[in-house]
Amino acid sequence: MLKGVADKYPVSHQLEDGATVTCSLMTAADLDALSKFLNRLTQTDLAYLQADITDPEIQKRWLKTAVVLCAYDPASLVGYASVTVSDDRHRGEIRVNISKGYRSRGLGRILIGEILNVSKLMSLKMLTARMLSDQHGARAAFERLGFARKELLQDYVDLPSVKCKDLLVMSSELG
Ligand SMILES: CC(C)(COP(=O)(O)OP(=O)(O)OC[C@H]1O[C@@H](n2cnc3c(N)ncnc32)[C@H](O)[C@@H]1OP(=O)(O)O)[C@@H](O)C(=O)NCCC(=O)NCCS
Repeated sequence: MLKGVADKYPVSHQLEDGATVTCSLMTAADLDALSKFLNRLTQTDLAYLQADITDPEIQKRWLKTAVVLCAYDPASLVGYASVTVSDDRHRGEIRVNISKGYRSRGLGRILIGEILNVSKLMSLKMLTARMLSDQHGARAAFERLGFARKELLQDYVDLPSVKCKDLLVMSSELG
């Protein structure tokens, strides 16, 4: 982890409706709170990940290969954003998930903005984000932050709970 990244957290943000959330770098100590957060999401919210992120072993591996920011309100973990860095350290894949109660309140924009800053500090050149093609909110949120459609993988997601969905890959170059 770059020192310049670790120095920036924790940081608090006030949402437009006055609620305050605190963003910090996720560690193993956050995994119980993460599990509770994930249990409240739907299978569709998680399908784009194509991995069972509720599995503790996958969570531990994720923390080793990605920088993960988590957002807490006074009661619980309410969202996360992560960037997983490629082996050549030029590219990163962004993931973000916000709890139902916090959507459309500006938290996604804040967390994606924070993870973009982290990606710049890590000197990444290109970022991608994956989502189901019918996750219209996600597509809108990333488009507003400068991401554009890169490719559409037809029928790519085929899980027991989410059948034959197209996966949209969006990308953004970092200057
Ligand atoms: C996509 C997601 C992260 C957005 O987070 P959010 O907190 O609801 O988004 P915000 O309130 O910060 O809105 C961000 C921007 O996207 C727009 N937006 C958000 N949801 C939208 C929707 N359903 N339709 C249209 N625009 C939408 C907002 O208008 C806002 O634009 P602005 O910055 O110009 O005001 C959230 O809906 C989510 O967790 N979805 C499920 C998981 C997922 O799809 N992740 C994406 C794969 S990486």
